[in-house]
Amino acid sequence: MKIIGTGSAHPALSVTNDMIAQFLDTSDEWIVSRTGIKERRLITDETLEDLAVEAAKNAMENAGVKLDEIDFLIVSNVVNEYDTPSLSCVIHGMLGLECPSFDINCACTGFMYALDIAESFLKTHDYRNILIVCAEEPGRMVDWKDRSQCVLFGDGAGAVVVTQGDNLKAVQLRTHSKVDPLWQKRLMQPTPFVTKEEKGGPLVMNGQDVFKLAVSSSTDDIDIVLRRAGMTPDQIDYYVLHQANIRIIEMIRRFVRQPQSKFPVNIEKYGNTSSATIPILLDELNRSNRLKEGDMILMSAFGAGFTTGAVVLRWGKN
Ligand code: COA
Repeated sequence: MKIIGTGSAHPALSVTNDMIAQFLDTSDEWIVSRTGIKERRLITDETLEDLAVEAAKNAMENAGVKLDEIDFLIVSNVVNEYDTPSLSCVIHGMLGLECPSFDINCACTGFMYALDIAESFLKTHDYRNILIVCAEEPGRMVDWKDRSQCVLFGDGAGAVVVTQGDNLKAVQLRTHSKVDPLWQKRLMQPTPFVTKEEKGGPLVMNGQDVFKLAVSSSTDDIDIVLRRAGMTPDQIDYYVLHQANIRIIEMIRRFVRQPQSKFPVNIEKYGNTSSATIPILLDELNRSNRLKEGDMILMSAFGAGFTTGAVVLRWGKN
């Protein structure tokens, strides 16, 4: 496969660290120095579906692909306003698509999984173009009374159109089944037969455990995916990493011993938008013409589960 178009969309409201410091015991200085985040966008009047559709339309326009040329829709999402149907069904109707679709929930690693699924579908089906949309609303999940987690996240959507090609050089996906560091339970509907009590609530996170897992698994994945691609760290032009914490990105950078110029970031503007961080960053790089035909990109992400993944991709429409 190859990526032939990118798109993204953000909520209108920008929430600065100072705005959060008005209702929580925190400060801009603490948040910037520990995370690299200065502001994040949060959904207010718009819906996640609106953002997903806007990102998808931007990607299709960028790819020069029309609605009837999309043969499959893959949506990566953790939560949205519906438990069912899937977000893909909702935005499928808003876009006016006629192809099949489904959601995947691989938390922040969703874009890595979606790329691998798209590659397999392009190999095994008679598909021309697949639309991947990563649309996430962690603002709906986090505990807004817990300063150690709510400051980290933002809402947003990123999308790509992929088509037949030979640009995906290597993939590494893993599931560690470590639920404790990061989880959220949904509220159970009462039934006459269930006597056990199950309580829903906001996200629960052990930041330090997530930090350690993120660094160890990402460096492992990067090592493995580079070997699979038959490449050394020097041969990668850009490391487009999950935007969760600037200190995690910096530790990975030191592991591969590459210059900062190879590590584009936008975490200061958007925080962690879960699986949308990488397609949003790709879209920024694409639209600002920083990516050149033939550039080698290494993407790597981690998230609840614990899921992790890395991909080496050659950039270019040819
Ligand atoms: N403002 C001010 N102080 C804060 C704070 C905030 N927003 N959040 C935490 N603190 C405090 C803690 O209460 C603690 O205070 P104490 O020493 O009095 O107990 C102190 O800062 C240090 O907390 P600690 O948890 O050790 O900080 P940290 O350096 O590990 O940073 C995270 C915390 C959450 C930023 C960091 O662990 C992290 O980013 N982890 C990864 C999380 C992640 O990426 N999740 C998503 C995965 S997809």
